[in-house]
Amino acid sequence: MQYIFGIMPLKKKRTKKKPVVKKKITKQSKSTTDKTILEEIIRVDHAGEYGATRIYDGQIAVFGKDSKIGKTIQHMADQEQEHIEKFNELIIEKRVRPTALLPVWNIAGFALGAGTALMGEKAAMACTVAVEKVIGEHYREQQNLLEDDEKELKKTIAKFEKDELEHHDIGLEHDAENAPGYKVMTKVIEIGCKAAIAISKKI
Ligand SMILES: [Fe+2]
Ligand SMILES: [Fe+2]
Repeated sequence: MQYIFGIMPLKKKRTKKKPVVKKKITKQSKSTTDKTILEEIIRVDHAGEYGATRIYDGQIAVFGKDSKIGKTIQHMADQEQEHIEKFNELIIEKRVRPTALLPVWNIAGFALGAGTALMGEKAAMACTVAVEKVIGEHYREQQNLLEDDEKELKKTIAKFEKDELEHHDIGLEHDAENAPGYKVMTKVIEIGCKAAIAISKKI
């Protein structure tokens, strides 16, 4: 008899465990942004905005802040500063590792900005057209990857996309298309930006 009473409570405990497992399954079915995708978005945007600040730094270093073109570039640089500050916050808030290539984008960004500025105002603006076209498209694609749990980030990226497309249009308004070798130059810069995006997502 003692043996029979001894095992009865054990059986009751086992039957109680099942409903807990069911609850877990219903929680997982809610749509959330893939964690890897979210991390890649923040890492690459942080890298891109950093690169953008360096491109405009390079251009302003050549033209000077007080020249007419320098003031136009400064307006875009100020917006890039807002963008990088936001991603500086996000990288901490969401605990995302920044790209290991920031030192490379630091130098490459400045060199691209200064190099195109040395070719003239139209070439500098052609650089802006190419870079901002790629970044604008990239921001558009990212908004489709973010689910309802990342509404705030989606809004931020939509606002930044608008700014980047404004920069693109400023480039066109400043005669970028009449820069010497416009087609080849913009194609090369676009390919470079796309490669930088692909690398900065992962590394
Ligand atoms: Fe930006
Ligand atoms: Fe921009």
